[in-house]
Amino acid sequence: MCGIFGCILKNGNAAPIIHTSLKCLEYRGYDSVGIATLNNGQVNIKKDQGKIDDVHHILNLDDLPGSVGVGHTRWATHGAPLKVNAHPHVDCSGQIVVVHNGIVENYAELKESLENLGHTFVSRTDTEVIPHLIEETQKKNPSFTFTEAVLEAVKKLAGSYALAVISANEPDKIICARNESPLVIGVGEDALYCASDLTAFLPMTNKAVMINDGELVILTSGGYEIRRIADFAVVVREPKVIDWTPEMAVKQGYPHFMLKEIHEQPATLRNTLRMQGHYLDLISTFLDRANEVFLVACGTSYHACLAASYMFSKLAFLPSYPVYASEFVEQHGKSVNIDSTILAVSQSGETADMLGAVTCSQQRAATILGLTNAIGSTLTRVSRVYIGQQSGPEIGVAATKTFTSQLSVLAQLAFRLSNKRGKISQDEMDYLAEKMEHLPQTVEAIILTQEEKVKQLAKKYRDAKIFFFLGRGINTATAYEGRLKLMEIAYVPSIAFPAGESKHGPISLIEPGFPVIFICPKDGVTHKTLIGNIMEMKARGASIISIIEEGDEEVKALSDDYVEVPKGIPEVLSPIPFVIPLQLFAYYMALEKGVNPDMPRNLAKSVTVK
Ligand code: G6P
Repeated sequence: MCGIFGCILKNGNAAPIIHTSLKCLEYRGYDSVGIATLNNGQVNIKKDQGKIDDVHHILNLDDLPGSVGVGHTRWATHGAPLKVNAHPHVDCSGQIVVVHNGIVENYAELKESLENLGHTFVSRTDTEVIPHLIEETQKKNPSFTFTEAVLEAVKKLAGSYALAVISANEPDKIICARNESPLVIGVGEDALYCASDLTAFLPMTNKAVMINDGELVILTSGGYEIRRIADFAVVVREPKVIDWTPEMAVKQGYPHFMLKEIHEQPATLRNTLRMQGHYLDLISTFLDRANEVFLVACGTSYHACLAASYMFSKLAFLPSYPVYASEFVEQHGKSVNIDSTILAVSQSGETADMLGAVTCSQQRAATILGLTNAIGSTLTRVSRVYIGQQSGPEIGVAATKTFTSQLSVLAQLAFRLSNKRGKISQDEMDYLAEKMEHLPQTVEAIILTQEEKVKQLAKKYRDAKIFFFLGRGINTATAYEGRLKLMEIAYVPSIAFPAGESKHGPISLIEPGFPVIFICPKDGVTHKTLIGNIMEMKARGASIISIIEEGDEEVKALSDDYVEVPKGIPEVLSPIPFVIPLQLFAYYMALEKGVNPDMPRNLAKSVTVK
């Protein structure tokens, strides 16, 4: 999740405005920054790795001539957060300049064919193919205008993008395009802007035009023109007056980052489906060869590891051991060895307990693999191979979108591993792959149809003193995560157990009205047994709240309250949709309690002490 910005001014220098606007977008990523302007047929670029203030301190980002320019603040996905990978990127001639937010899925194929045609690449980014593709299109079609060349090039891109492109040959315009990454145009008195979101230009103008997927925009000092990419048809759309404060704009109108991030999950899950297959393959090869596999993490990331241990076992027949990172050295420090493989999972890549476990394992010559949301973090530097989960920055302290992204990547690893080991029939794999592709829509549907219901549940149970979360099999992890969310955000004491364990002690707590939340997917063998566990609780007067699949009449009849997710979710993928109502429940319970869900007391997003 990067931030892009561009502006065309009637008078004055664009660079200081781009610099200030990028600061407003810094929450979208801060691995590197870059600005390019056009002046007298010349492209001027300043860029470097690091936060905007640090780079500005060294380079003076304001000191670039010209009234047209683009800028970028980066959240690394392809390529480390180094200067060479910082945007803007240019073609061979240095005349065509691109800033991009998104992931070009087919960049490897495009890069190879462009290299065969003589193009030279300097970065490891997917973005760099775009200026070269435009250059190549123009070379092949000398009569094309800049706009036509961008249009044809964009048609060849698969994946997600919000782009802003400028060219020294037609210095009076910026061309933007959008597919599945946000893009909005700002219309000022003496200027036009394009940006990843409104925050960037709200201090200058509150007139905005939202751009839709499949649209291209030509900005000139005279105005904007929207065209459909597919057929170049003109789209007429008037600017709207936005009455958001800058603070509301950063949260895109949501009252809290946590809610915004819960709602972002269809998009972040879509991003995880664009993982680089090469790295998934590499990691699954290491896992396949390992003698013993430890899945090491803290907090929410540990719950993803717990779920992954079921995925690896069920799909690839690979035994793996999820371990709390803070316990790893005590539990396995003496036995971990050259034949051990550690898959460390960490959103931040900086959690001290996780790094402690990794260091200990490294000293004993184990293989370290990493899954993280922070490319360039310590975990990426110490891992033999790592993979970025591509969730974009998460600002709410409680992990939400990063949890479902981790689950999605781990499931894809399990698929690859299963393929390698030939443990599952091709039909079943195809079925799972199709369900996986559909998950973003499934999650979208849950948010759309169940959020209000969950909100009402929070009102109903707002005074409950304690909650019980129960699930079986892989959804033990979902139960743990639901409990963690409710405790950390709404400060409601909560207990979670594998449902089968509840009768070995915890059930003694149950008295009439005690709320018990059951996670009840339909697929797999756990459904029947879980009904038995519900009966046990019900017989003792518990209030049953169940998360069920649509049409699960049996569990519905036993429940005091229920939330439904769409039908037909395979068990191994079920934690992804089933956790969504639990995230929303924690959020609305926090609101009921009058506490700020974005900043829970005593917690930190990244815990860098042991
Ligand atoms: C902190 C955060 C949790 C997070 C955990 C692990 O405790 O508050 O939300 O799950 O650290 O963080 P990591 O960055 O390693 O995934």
